[in-house]
Amino acid sequence: METVPLSDLETARRWATEQLAPVTEQPRLEAELLLTALLGCNRATLLAHLDAPLPPMAATTYRSWVQRRAAGEPLPYITGHIEFFGLEFTVTPAVLIPRPETELLVETALAHAGPAPRIADVGTGSGCIVVALARHLPQARCYAVDLSAAALEVARLNAARHGVAERIRFLEGDLLAPLPELVDLIVSNPPYVAESEWETLPVSVRREPALALLGGEEGLDAVRRLLAQAPASLRPGGMLLMEIGEQQGAAALALARATFPAAECRLLQDLAGKDRVLWVRGR
Ligand SMILES: C[S@@+](CC[C@H](N)C(=O)[O-])C[C@H]1O[C@@H](n2cnc3c(N)ncnc32)[C@H](O)[C@@H]1O
Repeated sequence: METVPLSDLETARRWATEQLAPVTEQPRLEAELLLTALLGCNRATLLAHLDAPLPPMAATTYRSWVQRRAAGEPLPYITGHIEFFGLEFTVTPAVLIPRPETELLVETALAHAGPAPRIADVGTGSGCIVVALARHLPQARCYAVDLSAAALEVARLNAARHGVAERIRFLEGDLLAPLPELVDLIVSNPPYVAESEWETLPVSVRREPALALLGGEEGLDAVRRLLAQAPASLRPGGMLLMEIGEQQGAAALALARATFPAAECRLLQDLAGKDRVLWVRGR
């Protein structure tokens, strides 16, 4: 990359926008988001002060951040945070970056959970789902399970950040195996990418943990195993809500109906009209 002096915010934004054009469809927005993270301001303030100088130390940091993003690193790993369900979450390369489509799972859980549910979040990653639920359900008691100790560290941090750590127990282990009791609600965004799809994923997505993404040959390994384990962990009348890939609706629904023959099973669609959440309510 040529060394352009980044003496003011407008010059820095223009330079970064050019650098980022090959890796993102929103290069200017990303250039601005990196600047706001660097300066600790919001976009409105940034846009109102584009003629302000950029101190040399900040320019050096900005240049390195833009270079990392141009090399394919996801933006939230560079800034260290992302918003999910109106809350700010710390993210590191140990966790999947929370996606907006996962908010449907949280909304659905909130619409159906009783006032004081026992909740298990399986594959908690950054803790975004369980922390959002605990924040909105002040009497909920939760378990957050992950195979990754490093991910659980991030989830603990996020729980503390949002004042809900004392109501969440963090358990390292496989799916529902570590749960010490039955729960009213199981929520999960399991790894569901098929192995054959890995090479087709954008470079930045392949920077996220493979453990968080890959779900075996058809992407359904964790979905299948979680469904098989769920009946033994749910209280009577309990619910399971699981995020699925947009192509997996029919297969996931068939698996759920086979595992829970007496339950109500259906699919919920996201804002783009794609199958996104498997909904199972036991009787
Ligand atoms: C798709 S990510 C979801 C992370 C977070 N819940 C979210 O929605 O952003 C899946 C998570 O499941 C964890 N995981 C993968 N296999 C697991 C297993 N067998 N048991 C428990 N957690 C698992 C991964 O480490 C990862 O954190």
